Amino acid sequence: MAYKVKDISLKDAGKKKIEWAEAHMPVLIALKEEYEKEQPLKGLKIAGAIHVTKEVAVLLRTLTALGASVAWAGCNPLSTQDDVAAALADEGIEVYAWRNNHDEYYWCIDQIIATKPNLTMDDGGDVVFRLHTDFPQMMTDVIGGTEETTTGVHRLKAMAKDGKLKYPIIAVNNAETKWDFDNIYGTGQGTIDGILRSTSVLLAGKNFVIAGYGHCGKGLAMRAKGMGSHVIVTEVDPIQALKARMEGFDVMQMDEAVKIGDIFVTATGCKDVIVEKHFKHLKEGAVLSNTGHFNVEVDVKALEKHAKSKEEIRDNCMKYVLPNGKNVYLLAEGRLVNLSAAEGHPSEVMDLSFANQVLALLQIVKFHKDMKPEVYEIPAEQDQRIAMLKLKSMDVNLDSLTEEQKKYLGSYAEGT
Ligand code: NAD
Ligand code: ADE
Repeated sequence: MAYKVKDISLKDAGKKKIEWAEAHMPVLIALKEEYEKEQPLKGLKIAGAIHVTKEVAVLLRTLTALGASVAWAGCNPLSTQDDVAAALADEGIEVYAWRNNHDEYYWCIDQIIATKPNLTMDDGGDVVFRLHTDFPQMMTDVIGGTEETTTGVHRLKAMAKDGKLKYPIIAVNNAETKWDFDNIYGTGQGTIDGILRSTSVLLAGKNFVIAGYGHCGKGLAMRAKGMGSHVIVTEVDPIQALKARMEGFDVMQMDEAVKIGDIFVTATGCKDVIVEKHFKHLKEGAVLSNTGHFNVEVDVKALEKHAKSKEEIRDNCMKYVLPNGKNVYLLAEGRLVNLSAAEGHPSEVMDLSFANQVLALLQIVKFHKDMKPEVYEIPAEQDQRIAMLKLKSMDVNLDSLTEEQKKYLGSYAEGT
């Protein structure tokens, strides 16, 4: 089996990590056990690009157990866990991934596209976009795909709107059991983890600026507050800004926040959030980072141009000396800090996201002939099923409605 990883001898360390993840992903394992006999993905080739982590390894073990053959790449240059990639290659997965650079990253994506897949699994939209624009001849056997993240869903919806999308995609991101857990609790905890591993900074007493109070921003604000930071939010949406204010956070424009922030995290999915005009206002020692999908939120090119010098002072932490003599620190080159400087979201939360991925693929296999080249939402029953499986794994019981209660909730006759 073809593969390209950093160092195959890292496989044993990778396998131990995967075992940990497996022990913390009960929903995915339950789905694997349920569908293994049926082999619903038999004969299907999947080309997937989602961060190569221990949790993705459990997903890949599940997909292959269900009969699929898989070719895999990372979806960000800095997020591959090299030991996990080695373990996957050793297990016979066609994997092209190592912690790499922009050009190598696209080389890896091109290798998985070259397998002429039947299904695509994307995280950010790069596979689908490249398949459509550069390799349409590799798209002829594709019956559908899935998309893991908010930014990818935005890109695919824009493609569909322009009439450019050629096959159906299920927006796994938009499942309640995905973005209300992964984006909130996963990003909340993982982003703090990345900041701490790359700086060891104390969060208590710091002004912690979060750009974007969406799913990721809310989770992050909750966790930063819990660690004793004073949270400041910047937003463009009045409703989200109001929510942040009523949660007790300061809300202001970035032009003001840059003057008082100690730690900055962008979580918008938008570009040009912290830009050149802001740099001269930053406080001594300010830490800049991003947890949005692409490295376009902090203008790193402008920082490189503007700074007098730079020096890597710890893993994933670059010190820049500005013309006014102040030092500012950029984490993980402005790429998603939770995956580049830490291990991404914990396994327990990826359990929900990847259970959604598996069930979405089964939907496509079953219904693709009736699906149009559009972006589809996850069916509500799937969300309910995954939530129930997770609760069961946590030994949590919930009440159920009596027939009388159901009737009451669907009626209007009874009042005061
Ligand atoms: P979301 O749509 O729920 O929230 C984004 C928020 O940012 C919105 O409230 C929007 O109004 C605000 N916003 C947009 N442009 C802004 C700007 N210029 N300044 C200030 N606020 C702005 O999206 P989300 O699910 O929170 O995802 C945000 C980003 O994080 C996306 O790129 C997504 O793909 C990515 N993501 C990363 C991880 C990770 O592991 N790091 C996990 C999930 C999602
Ligand atoms: N996105 C965020 N965390 C992740 C993880 N642990 N594995 C794969 N994708 C992720």
